[in-house]
Amino acid sequence: MVIAVDRAKRKLQHIEYALATGQHRLHGFEDVTFVHNSLPNISTAHIDLQTTIGELSLRSPIFINAMTGGGGEQTAKINEQLAYAAKQCGIAMAVGSQMAALKDERERSSFTVIRKVNKHGLVFANLGSEATVELAKRAIDMIEANAIQIHLNVVQELVMPEGDRDFCGALSRIEQIVSAVDVPVIVKEVGFGMSKETARKLEQIGICAVDVGGFGGTNFAQIENERRKQPLTYFNEWGMTTTVSIAEVATTTERLSIIGSGGVQHALDVAKCIALGASAVGMAGYMLRFLIEKGVEALIEEIERLHNDLTLIMTALGTPTVADLQNAPLVITGKTHHWLRERGID
Ligand code: FNR
Repeated sequence: MVIAVDRAKRKLQHIEYALATGQHRLHGFEDVTFVHNSLPNISTAHIDLQTTIGELSLRSPIFINAMTGGGGEQTAKINEQLAYAAKQCGIAMAVGSQMAALKDERERSSFTVIRKVNKHGLVFANLGSEATVELAKRAIDMIEANAIQIHLNVVQELVMPEGDRDFCGALSRIEQIVSAVDVPVIVKEVGFGMSKETARKLEQIGICAVDVGGFGGTNFAQIENERRKQPLTYFNEWGMTTTVSIAEVATTTERLSIIGSGGVQHALDVAKCIALGASAVGMAGYMLRFLIEKGVEALIEEIERLHNDLTLIMTALGTPTVADLQNAPLVITGKTHHWLRERGID
């Protein structure tokens, strides 16, 4: 099975190059400043981190975003440890693309291990937009998923030498999945951001949430370019930052839950995503690096620290709930401000 071996190798290369290329902090969070509140009239004991993504109820807005799977024993181990950390900290977790495991039975264990470790936690399935209804149902069943993420990654595919070149029909396939599966469908980008035009189309077909997957953190153009003999360097700078993506989607859609992600590394980034309009925040590259470099117990401590820091930030702002934090006053400057003005978004 040459194809399966190549796919497994690619998954491991993604991890290696994601760690090597790192997080760039080009996400635009430095353009967002909270208005200080000297009279928050609140105690840390009042802070409640609970939130929702559509009909799903989450104990924390922070979750582990889609990463690994389908790369053999090594990715199975990573998934097992991520699932353990998610369980210990009571946070949700998305798995990486399950396409490999749908095509090759032997890859299933790197996903099914998640439910062995974390029986009752919130877990999101993951497939690309080439997925059919039947594949989506199988991916959900494989891990008894509470929701399914469908990822959009056109630029990544184009940079990947063996990647897809035909992106026709994605919206209509997603629409069919929405009407056929009985869990919420989340559509996500993978680090190139999302525009208001895209979000509006997705809202019209009835999806429950978008994950903006903004530019500025893990860079999949750069990762795939590492695997090319002749890099397509012009795609390395391609994409919309996390801040402009959240603001674009938040100001133009009414019903969608928004997930902020792309380069999120600490609790202040999380708070800024929420204040821009997100109800949950995904972290991928940062969680992976922490796990690989420091181990699972250190990752658990780090997630607890993130929760503690977010509690302190919400106290400083006088916003006891995630819904209150969404309305915290802030000022947007710099490139983010310029972008939003050019796009007619205030
Ligand atoms: C990813 N990401 C990803 N996304 C997805 O929808 N399906 C997938 O299979 C993968 N695989 C994957 C592997 C690795 C090693 C990394 C680091 C990431 C993308 C991820 O979910 C996220 O959208 C981006 O990484 C941007 O977020 P961060 O990393 O900047 O927090």
